[in-house]
Parts: sequence; C-alpha cells; structure tokens
Amino acid sequence: MSVSPDLDLVRMTGALGAEVRGVDLTDLDDGQFARVHAAFLEHHVLVFRDQKLDPDALVAFGQRFGPLYVHPIVPHIETHEEVIPISNLGKRRTITEVWHSDVTFAPCPPLASALYALSVPDAGGDTLFANQHLAFEALSPGMQRLLRGLRAVHSGDGLGAAMKQGEAWRAHGQLHPVVRTHPETGRPALFVNRAFTRAFEDMTPAESRPLLDFLIEWATAPHLQCRHRWRKGDLVMWDNRSIMHYAVHDHGDAKRNLHRITVEGDEPR
Ligand code: SIN
Repeated sequence: MSVSPDLDLVRMTGALGAEVRGVDLTDLDDGQFARVHAAFLEHHVLVFRDQKLDPDALVAFGQRFGPLYVHPIVPHIETHEEVIPISNLGKRRTITEVWHSDVTFAPCPPLASALYALSVPDAGGDTLFANQHLAFEALSPGMQRLLRGLRAVHSGDGLGAAMKQGEAWRAHGQLHPVVRTHPETGRPALFVNRAFTRAFEDMTPAESRPLLDFLIEWATAPHLQCRHRWRKGDLVMWDNRSIMHYAVHDHGDAKRNLHRITVEGDEPR
C-alpha cells in the first residue's frame, strides 16, 4: 500500500519511479514535503513536470532533504558551488553513459541527486534508472550471503582523468560494503557500479572482474529499470543509495542542458 496516499502519483514501471502531479517545488509546505519525502523512499525516483527553478530555487528545494554536496572533481556553475551544469559534450566525451551511482568513491556518497532540465533534445537523451533493492532481493540466498561478507574499492581516478585531474584522484580508493542497508528504510541494496567500483577488498581487479560484471549486468536488467524521457522544466530526483542510473547518448549534437544538485549522504553500512 502506498505510504503517500495524498499525492497524485503515476508510477513509471513496476520496478520503480513515479511522476508526482500538481506540485510546485518552489511552494512546498511542510505537510507536502513530508509526503514527497515518503514517496521518494517508496518509489526511489520522482519526476516533477513543468517546474520553474532558477539555481536559487533548485538549491532551496534540494536543501529540504539536507545540506547540499559540493562535487570534489566536476566544476560547478559560476554563481552556485552546489550546482553542476550537465551539457552535451558529444558521445565520445560523455562520462555518464555508464551505469553508476554518484560519487561512490567518496567516504560518504550523496544521499540523492536531482536534475533540472533547461533544454532537451526533440528525441533522445533519456536517463535510465535501475532498482538495486530488487536486484539484491532476487539473488539466491547463497549469493546474498557471499555478498554480505564483501567490501569493494571505489575510485574516482577515471572521472579525475576525464576532468584532467587524474593525478590528484589516483590515490583515492574508498572501501564500501557490497550490500548496503538503506539508512532510512532498513532495506538492503546492491552497492557496486560500472563507473567507480574497481575490485573487491584484498582481490585484484582481474580476480574481481567476473563477479563484478555478473552483478552489474544482473542489477541493470530491463525488469529492474525505468526510463525518463525529458521535457524542459522537468525535475527528476533519485535515491543514490538504492539506484543506479545511465544517461543514454543517442542525440548527436542536439542541445541538452541540465542543472544537477546532490544532497550530502552518510557512510554506507
Ligand atoms: C548524471 O549521471 O549525473 C547525469 C545523468 C544525465 O545526464 O541524465
């Protein structure tokens, strides 16, 4: 049963995601915010259409969930250090067309990320999301037991190199549990991703690769996904503790400009 019955919600797929209708994010009272927060925990990805959010309003909305995170590698817009511009750099230079959770190479990866669409292609440039609770829960008891005992190293070296800060990030490897417990719901989720997870603790990348490949393929199967087709004015927010996402680059040189914010998170356990 829904825990946010007073919101007008349209679910995106059976696995995750909901569009929230009739809400102006610049004018949320505490009661509405509590319902949005409950829907966020229940559906993991929320879509709000037709929003008018300048950087101040975007930051103010994000801060309802907690303090905002300043990205350690990716540059921000001139006026707001919490806001990252996402634009079309061309398929060869894109760094987000890969299944990932944001900033998992940090000791405390973000709780949530949100994107606000300023301009979008006529077709393409969709974002995919995959539910990591369902991914874990569908594994066999034996595999669940094995994974619960593992930790993995996450590194920002690839992102650092893409941003021409490779050396600064080479040394930053961060250990996280392979299965994390959601701090607000208590639900377990797989917590490895293609962009940043390098190896299991005390194992080489070559030894780790077969199991990592299996897990990421398993965790991104179509029945675990939803897909967001962007319209200008959309605000999409996802739970970075339980979701992986993937930006599809099928829009050539078409303009695609979004603003991203991330909310500070806690240490995965
Ligand atoms: C991101 O991975 O933060 C951006 C996703 C997107 O551009 O759709």
